[in-house]
Amino acid sequence: MGLGPVTDINESPPATRLAAPDPRGGGVSLDLAVVGLGYVGLTTAAALAAWGHRVWGMDRDPRRVRTLVEGTAAGLDPDLDLLVRSELAGGRLRLGTDLGPAAGAAAVFVAVPTPAGPSGRPDLSALWAVAGGLEQLEPPPRIVVIRSTVPVGTGDDLARRLGRLALPPAVISNPEFLREGTALRDFRHPHRVVIGAADPEAAAVLASIYRSTGAPVILTDRPTAELVKYASNAYLAMRVSFANELADYAARAGLDVAGVLRAAGMDPRIGLHYLGPGLGFGGPCLPKDLDALRWAFRRQGLRPRLLDAARQVNRERVRSTVSQLQDALGGLGGRAVAVWGLAFKGGTADARQSPAVALVRALVSSGARVTAYDPAAGPVRGWPRQACRAADLYSAAKGAHALVIATDWPEFGRADLERVRSLLEGDLILDARRLLSPAAVQAAGLKYAGPGYPPPGGPLTAAR
Ligand SMILES: NC(=O)c1ccc[n+]([C@@H]2O[C@H](COP(=O)([O-])OP(=O)(O)OC[C@H]3O[C@@H](n4cnc5c(N)ncnc54)[C@H](O)[C@@H]3O)[C@@H](O)[C@H]2O)c1
Repeated sequence: MGLGPVTDINESPPATRLAAPDPRGGGVSLDLAVVGLGYVGLTTAAALAAWGHRVWGMDRDPRRVRTLVEGTAAGLDPDLDLLVRSELAGGRLRLGTDLGPAAGAAAVFVAVPTPAGPSGRPDLSALWAVAGGLEQLEPPPRIVVIRSTVPVGTGDDLARRLGRLALPPAVISNPEFLREGTALRDFRHPHRVVIGAADPEAAAVLASIYRSTGAPVILTDRPTAELVKYASNAYLAMRVSFANELADYAARAGLDVAGVLRAAGMDPRIGLHYLGPGLGFGGPCLPKDLDALRWAFRRQGLRPRLLDAARQVNRERVRSTVSQLQDALGGLGGRAVAVWGLAFKGGTADARQSPAVALVRALVSSGARVTAYDPAAGPVRGWPRQACRAADLYSAAKGAHALVIATDWPEFGRADLERVRSLLEGDLILDARRLLSPAAVQAAGLKYAGPGYPPPGGPLTAAR
């Protein structure tokens, strides 16, 4: 596959910024390095190695590197685990905690965390720590590629800092758009590759590295590339909050919002993605990126009204789910509640910033006895000690007064509802992700509730 069309999105860019990717770059095996071996970095490192490059992957966490080198599944994505193992075995991918082997690399890809501080301002300390390490390399890499999500101006700041070196590397802002659970597929088949660069030759080298994706390449300046990433995630977050706000109205008006959104989303101007009612968005990216953009607005003296509203609507989802359950059960004190799902979405083990975990905490604070099950999530940070974990979905349901579906794992949608009915002490399923068919739940002799689903004949009351 060749390069997709190249678009320059600057209205009147300086001539030096326009670069057609160099087709001779494709097919050449380069010495590359990736710093930070989490979801983005490990995917980047393994995929670059599979494209035939020699890749040095570096992470500051020795346990993480050891786990990967020993071939233990990283638990991020089964396809990715397999690829990492085969690239390590083939010798194209090597891993360690030392940045030294990145000296003289054609490009170093930086994929370290950029978590939000209390004000939303991203903490860039990991990026600056990497910059300090890059300054020590002799010779320095020729290109530094920022894959982390960083505020507008960060790439320029890094270029100024590295510009003091005798042989300054070109700095490129190249945001990543992959989704957890489908990381490898998304990396190999992106919808677009955004390259924010001041150096046309460096941009051409990077474009040629991505040539086998066949994706359209967007050449622009660094700050624009950085804002593209925040614009994308903030927009997705707004869609989720829109669906949830509409869900509240629909249920009050006696309508099922699921059908409304499906019909609206069939319009290609709207689309169906990120348009389902539920517990709200979570995970390590959407909340922090929305907060970072809100912080950036305020820094410019602007009030991000839509973005603030999207955040507020999202914050209320867990609370309103707990209230719904409280009303249905006549209080939560001493009630047994089964929770299916802890990951922030189906298809990943990641429970960071998960609304499902926030729900467990809120239920425990309201006095409920919670037993949760998730097919992939490991130990959860901030887990309330009063809550229990079950080994499978049916053991979690055993003896519960109500069952809440908190993560959209496909296997929950295929659950044996007759069996669930026989195990539950009560008769309510609160399908907070709208995974099940209400009719199927009712046919199994259970009561169904969910966001945007109207309670039949007025407020829902479960058997107590
Ligand atoms: N996870 C996603 O779906 C996703 C998608 C697109 C963009 N991003 C962005 O990519 C960046 C990385 O995210 P992630 O989810 O891969 O993070 P992660 O937390 O999964 O992994 C980051 C890794 O970087 C390592 N690290 C931290 N400081 C380091 C340092 N100074 N030197 C070397 N290694 C260091 C950590 O040990 C960890 O293994 C973030 O800015 C994130 O917003 C994430």
